[in-house]
Amino acid sequence: MKRILTGITPSGYPHLGNYIGAIKPSLDLLDEKCESFLFIADLHAVIKVSDPERLNELSNSIAMAWLASGLDPEMTNFYRQSDIPEITELAWILSCITEKGLLNRAHAYKAAIDVNNESGKKDIDEGISLGLFSYPLLMASDILTPNATHVPVGKDQQQHLEITRDIAEKFNKKYGDFFNVPEAVIKDEKTVLGTDGRKMSKSYNNIIPLLADEKDLRKSVMKIVTNSQEPGEKKDWKDNTLFSIYSSFASEGNQKEMKDMFSDGIGWGDAKQKVFEELNQILTPIREKYLELNSNRKHIDEILKAGADNVRKQTLPAIKEVKRLVGINKL
Ligand code: TRP
Repeated sequence: MKRILTGITPSGYPHLGNYIGAIKPSLDLLDEKCESFLFIADLHAVIKVSDPERLNELSNSIAMAWLASGLDPEMTNFYRQSDIPEITELAWILSCITEKGLLNRAHAYKAAIDVNNESGKKDIDEGISLGLFSYPLLMASDILTPNATHVPVGKDQQQHLEITRDIAEKFNKKYGDFFNVPEAVIKDEKTVLGTDGRKMSKSYNNIIPLLADEKDLRKSVMKIVTNSQEPGEKKDWKDNTLFSIYSSFASEGNQKEMKDMFSDGIGWGDAKQKVFEELNQILTPIREKYLELNSNRKHIDEILKAGADNVRKQTLPAIKEVKRLVGINKL
């Protein structure tokens, strides 16, 4: 049986890009024939979010975004990474068989070193935490602790999956076949653009929020950059940020209609109004569910706790067996 697993790091408030790129595809992939593990990667977020209250709030927001988007905790193992101590326990054991060089090559670490190099720092590791460095190792442990077989991720995570496979194979070779060597399921995703035309990202401050009220949603759509063409002038939908954002959620038929309206010279204000109305229609049921969840946060805690308890029924015996294989079992 397929064991599908994926996590989201709560390092920013959920936005349209998260919904289209991660939340929706993670739910679309599930059916009765698979086991699924969806989790909030809050231990990963500690690397980036230093304000405790904010971290807690972000974790809850991602949990609510997933639930509001249709995640059914009766059908899916839904949990917080930090509620499964076996993950961090296994991470240590894996770190003992992982060569440092493997992690030296990981993107996030390399990017951090490059920044230091470019700014002429004497110590290229200055300001880089061990957490950032061993991020792919913790991710390997997320995947291997519940012994997942399939991991849907974006292209940017492909390298981490390769690292995970390497580590699993190494363990199996050394201690006997124990872990599935998991497969990455790479979505051929389209980058969702933000309001300024760059990739939608909290660090660019260009997001369209997923859980905002109608007024704020409208405001962010109206912020989408356009050019100075007047109503009545024919507009090109190619390389157009508004159209690109629209195409990330609109049906083929509606996109075709929008292209025609561009050709017919629709004004930017009217075009934005159409984009807003359609997006609002898609997001209204999600927002309503979110508001309901948000009014009873205790319930979310209960859902996550129950999810973790259930996952631990599998991860506790798994870590016990790993320890036995490694030779640190008790009498
Ligand atoms: N690193 C992933 C991201 O930033 C999130 C993540 C953490 C994850 N652990 C994982 C994804 C395990 C898949 C499997 O998107």
